[in-house]
Amino acid sequence: MSNSDYILEMNNICKSFPGVIALDNVTFKVEKGEVHCLIGANGAGKSTLMKILSSAYTEDSGEIYFDSKLLKAHGTQKRREEGIAVIYQELSLFNELTVGENVYINNYPKTKTGGIDWKKVYRDTQDLADKLNIKIDAKAPVHSLNIGQRQLTEIMKALACNAKLIVMDEPSSTLSQSEFEILVKVIEDLKNHGITIIYISHHLEELFIVGDHITVLRDGKFVACKKTCDLDEDRLVEYMTGIDLSQIESEEKTIHPVSDEVVLELKDLSNDVVKDINLKLHKGEVLGLYGLVGSGRTEILQSIFGVRSTTNGKILLNGKEIVIKDTGHAIRNKIGLAPENRKAQGLVLPLPVWENMSMVSLPKFLKKGKIDYKSITTICESHKDKLNVKTPSINTVTQNLSGGNQQKVILAKWLMQDCDILLLDEPTQGIDVMAKEEIYKLIHEITTQGKSVIVVSSELQELLRICDNIHVMYDGKQIFESNKGSFNQEQILHASVIGRAI
Ligand SMILES: Nc1ncnc2c1ncn2[C@@H]1O[C@H](COP(=O)(O)OP(=O)(O)OP(=O)(O)O)[C@@H](O)[C@H]1O
Ligand SMILES: [Mg+2]
Repeated sequence: MSNSDYILEMNNICKSFPGVIALDNVTFKVEKGEVHCLIGANGAGKSTLMKILSSAYTEDSGEIYFDSKLLKAHGTQKRREEGIAVIYQELSLFNELTVGENVYINNYPKTKTGGIDWKKVYRDTQDLADKLNIKIDAKAPVHSLNIGQRQLTEIMKALACNAKLIVMDEPSSTLSQSEFEILVKVIEDLKNHGITIIYISHHLEELFIVGDHITVLRDGKFVACKKTCDLDEDRLVEYMTGIDLSQIESEEKTIHPVSDEVVLELKDLSNDVVKDINLKLHKGEVLGLYGLVGSGRTEILQSIFGVRSTTNGKILLNGKEIVIKDTGHAIRNKIGLAPENRKAQGLVLPLPVWENMSMVSLPKFLKKGKIDYKSITTICESHKDKLNVKTPSINTVTQNLSGGNQQKVILAKWLMQDCDILLLDEPTQGIDVMAKEEIYKLIHEITTQGKSVIVVSSELQELLRICDNIHVMYDGKQIFESNKGSFNQEQILHASVIGRAI
């Protein structure tokens, strides 16, 4: 292939951070008009490579050709003008501004007199939303949107820049199945218009739906670039891990018994989003909440954790009615919540890993009024190893960890707290396939110790795999329940989309 068939060539890119070689002589080439998937385990260097492309980071060495031109000037604005738009894993929207203001923030249309043409801003935003087939009010402030709608707003923002190349860094990590299908259509449409897409995802099955080529990174190094049709999931995992899967013996799956003892019960619970929720969580049970983004799954957890007030109904903890006043009250009652929006709710990014991990459980480490740092270090180290958190040390600032590794820190925080009831909102969002397995194992482990878990997930496969019981939500209502013995994937999917059981 001649050079000009590549819209992007990143040659011999190197980038180091203190204690980490994030990219080690990586070469990455993308053809014009294709969807090129970039994959690798958490911390492999995917986001760093894309940040170098957008010039958010500067490479230590290497060259970038875009549209046959050597990119010299740095600065994200310059790169945007070249036609490169990057949607980062950690969204970068302004919460107080409207959807329209965010979408056109880099290039507001002007009126003849030089002011901002607000009519056009909102009209064009609405057009883009219609094209994406999503219901978003262009005038709604971003803080009123759920995380799925925010992701879609980011995609509209890239489209509004007339980009030639759009990088989507885990666009699908919080999208429901139907939203992902919308995204697939949008991607198809963009391709038809000659736009090139770089697609990063840990959902391997998605790559085979959207991708033309797949490039794999491992520990900051280039491993392979192949046509999607020449690959399967096992080969990909082998490239990602460097481990030959045929050498691994599959482990026996043990089924743990769930006791009859009800530890948490919701009776006709309502809040401003959900209505008349009834559910029982048993000791040792993993209960799943499935539904589209916005169906009320998260809000149920929030009421149990005391961050969203209930307007009606009751919560019973170990058979006794309880009004959970705030998160402190929930935590004292051994309830923990790992939230979905890790940046805003789960972590204090400027603090080191160990402080984030031990934040909630700190009182446990007080000995005669003094903090027992030695025990904290031992326990943090052991969770770091268990969850395979990739970080130079537990003293590293959490901000410097890759997205998936930050998510692991949140999980560690709640696992360290020793809760009886653990509420997990999208626990494996952004987590690579290998680490996901570890998390499933940990969930299994804590339930065999008699703890109970409620999991919200947009990934039905995940819930089918780990749950004893799944409740399906639609528009704030609980519409369908299914037990492990009789899980029916099709029924659950249908119920979540049409709002009733079939
Ligand atoms: N600003 C930074 N300072 C220090 N280290 C960093 C910084 N940004 C990234 N790193 C490190 O570089 C490595 C690669 O991180 P990167 O975010 O590119 O991984 P990734 O492949 O995107 O992973 P994930 O799937 O978890 O998002 C990691 O070890 C990470 O901790
Ligand atoms: Mg990343």
